[in-house]
Amino acid sequence: MHTVKPLPFDASNLRGLSERLIVSHHENNYGGTVKNLNRTEEELERINKDKTPLPVAALKERELTFANSATLHELYFANLGGDGRPGGPVADALAGASGSFPRWEELFRLTGMGLAGGSGWAVRAWDFQRGEVRTYWSGNHTQACAFGQPLLLLDMYEHSYALDYGAAAAKYVDAFFQNINWDEVNRRFENARRKAA
Ligand SMILES: [Fe+2]
Repeated sequence: MHTVKPLPFDASNLRGLSERLIVSHHENNYGGTVKNLNRTEEELERINKDKTPLPVAALKERELTFANSATLHELYFANLGGDGRPGGPVADALAGASGSFPRWEELFRLTGMGLAGGSGWAVRAWDFQRGEVRTYWSGNHTQACAFGQPLLLLDMYEHSYALDYGAAAAKYVDAFFQNINWDEVNRRFENARRKAA
């Protein structure tokens, strides 16, 4: 039985992202995903060898989608609630990997904006297989870096911004950057660096 993790910040305190938007996203989209993951696991419990594999295949596909969606949302909310001022070793690593921090930010924003009007995630991840930190596009909650640790996640599903900004996704991306919790991103970066070593 999976439970909904509470928001790790006061939803009324974000800059440019309303309490109504954040609470709706957390309760309805993320909360709904956790409920659906539990329901899917209950359905799988009832499957036995007398059944054909077809419903198992469908349920297993749903299980991965809901489990990944829950993970992505938990990590997304946890990398919000900060002051948006980059610093620490991860900022140096991002600048080093892309030539400069503004260049990294430009490419990350463009990855997100490439999903505007559609759906998906922009994820900066430590890719253990490649041995480097990379920005990946992620669709349908499932097309994620296979052997990676997410460091910074930007939800580009319309439910992340439509209540506040309609279809103006660029304004949402601006607001997202103003609320990044870089302390949390640095914790993830140090954790991944230890594992890689
Ligand atoms: Fe979402």
